[in-house]
Amino acid sequence: MTERTFSIIKPDATRRNLTGKVNAVIEDAGLRIVAQRRIKMTEAQAKKFYEVHAERPFYGELVEFMTSAPVVVQVLEGDNAVARYREVMGATNPAQAADGTIRKLYAESVGENSVHGSDSAENAKIEIAQFFTDADIVG
Ligand code: CMP
Repeated sequence: MTERTFSIIKPDATRRNLTGKVNAVIEDAGLRIVAQRRIKMTEAQAKKFYEVHAERPFYGELVEFMTSAPVVVQVLEGDNAVARYREVMGATNPAQAADGTIRKLYAESVGENSVHGSDSAENAKIEIAQFFTDADIVG
């Protein structure tokens, strides 16, 4: 089933000039980048995006990190894109990520973990809508 997921290449990765390398892993995994934009996330955008984590002890640090440098927001399309991208990213904590995954290759820590990917098709729709309109997405 062809579906879409939302991805963010995070500040730790853009700072190290890894956008192309991350995109190569995504494309080699059979996912298609059908929308992509480099932005500096505002505090309001980051707070809203991570609203579900508002009560977590790391929320403040997470918002500060996500606004600390540019990010690349993306829409990825492919067969079972949500689950496929989660496989390709690897575990949230890079110490537990499998070989060949983006986080194993590039992430620095559980907080500065290079990429975000939606955890469900339903959240993917909500997350995509925060950053893209239908006209931005060319499948
Ligand atoms: P992400 O997939 O973007 O969704 C929530 C983010 O919170 C997660 O990736 C991590 O970057 C961050 N996060 C999760 N657990 C921790 C933690 N223990 N300390 C700091 N940041 C965390």
